[in-house]
Amino acid sequence: MIEEKKIDEKRQGEILSIRSKSKTIATKKMYLESYGCAMNFSDSEIVASILQDEGYSTTKEIENADIVLINTCSIREKAEQTVRRRLKSFLKIKRKKPELTIGILGCMAERLKTKFLEQEKIVDLVVGPDAYRELPKLIKELEDGRKAVNVILSTEETYADVIPVRLGNNKVTAFISIMRGCDNMCSFCVVPFTRGRERSRDPLSIVNEIQNVYENGYKEVTLLGQNVDSYLWNNGLSKKEINKLPLQNQKNNINFAKLLEFSAKKCPNIRIRFSTSHPQDMGDDVLYTMAKYKNICKYIHLPVQSGSSRILKLMNRGYSRDWYIDRIDAIKRIIPNCGISMDIITGFCSETDFDHNQTLSLMNYVKYDFGYMFKYSERPNTLAQRKYKDDVDEKIKSKRLTEIITLQQKHSLHNNKKHVGSIKEVLVEGYSKKSKDFLYGRTTQNTVAVFPKEDIKIGDLVNIKINDCTSATLLGNKY
Ligand code: 5AD
Ligand code: SF4
Repeated sequence: MIEEKKIDEKRQGEILSIRSKSKTIATKKMYLESYGCAMNFSDSEIVASILQDEGYSTTKEIENADIVLINTCSIREKAEQTVRRRLKSFLKIKRKKPELTIGILGCMAERLKTKFLEQEKIVDLVVGPDAYRELPKLIKELEDGRKAVNVILSTEETYADVIPVRLGNNKVTAFISIMRGCDNMCSFCVVPFTRGRERSRDPLSIVNEIQNVYENGYKEVTLLGQNVDSYLWNNGLSKKEINKLPLQNQKNNINFAKLLEFSAKKCPNIRIRFSTSHPQDMGDDVLYTMAKYKNICKYIHLPVQSGSSRILKLMNRGYSRDWYIDRIDAIKRIIPNCGISMDIITGFCSETDFDHNQTLSLMNYVKYDFGYMFKYSERPNTLAQRKYKDDVDEKIKSKRLTEIITLQQKHSLHNNKKHVGSIKEVLVEGYSKKSKDFLYGRTTQNTVAVFPKEDIKIGDLVNIKINDCTSATLLGNKY
């Protein structure tokens, strides 16, 4: 547990003074578009904040913008193709308005660097995830007639002092980044190359941000990191330095379980979620903390990737099937009724029918509430690309993916049906896509519920009697 008295008042003062710097009057407009993971959406809010200080306000109308920034994703080939198609669609606008600046941010910027300027002539600016503070300077370089690139990865940047400009559509849930980068080196994954080394953010700045969003009316935060269970803070030291400290100094370490507890106690009226957990690092301490605090949502996204120990080894995931099952058993023991979701990659290098059946049997064991399922997509320079052959036929990948999705839908329906007849507390996030007469929200387990509006308001925490369900949604009425 983090003692509140340990919070150094001087540092708190420093952080607050950074936050209260005077506002610049907005004279220019930025249009921001984000692809990929929640971290990218959260980063766009940091970018918006940095540029707001330079006199930019956000616009949702691309035609009105002085600068268009696309925050990109490299995780799969398809994600990159989507961005390239989107860039093509900007040609017409750029022809009409040649002075419009088009910038590429995020993982594709980092992966392709200057190549982007050669490949996509429409692009003026290429900025990687750790270089957003340089944006004002780079924009100035553009004004001097030079195309600008900065993709230098940092071992320290966490943007801890930047107060994000909230760009989300609802004013109920907010993302808060607690760490950046990833040291895991899963053999299929491009993220360690595009987002660099793992580093944790000052816990004080995290809790201040949670309090800040709460004071601004938000009801829920999601703490973000590529591997939250690996969060570690001790006076700004790197993980390597922390591990070298004498044991008595390591008592001051703040790991993820402590950060969660600190956040839950300091901000008891806000719901707290987090993503993503890693099976290799998720200890029982995190689970006991989740069980202890009502305001920590009972939901864990625990990517498995494959149910075959042989494939997990090739993926360099750092755990076996048995280890993963042990983590699932621990969740079910310590937090009964916890929502559990997964990521699965099908058709990884050398995957056989036996390996695939191992994945299906693991799914049958866990019975996930939902999941994100993908075909393996080879990424340049990853360990898998360099060492293994992408040898599973595309048709087999598709067939296996369909089987996995079908099984998941069956499990989702099965789990949702168990809630029919019960009363669920739901945080209302917005109007249902189908009708303005209905609202939607999420249970603590992260399941979506839809219900008639009646006198309910967005942001309310309401009890809903569940009458029916589909595989994706619970349907009910105010209780
Ligand atoms: N191909 C397919 N899916 C991938 N993921 C990461 N890299 C790849 C890849 N090369 C998936 C993993 C990860 C999620 C964010 O994206 O399942 O957990
Ligand atoms: Fe990629 Fe693995 Fe890191 Fe997740 S844990 S970001 S899959 S390398």
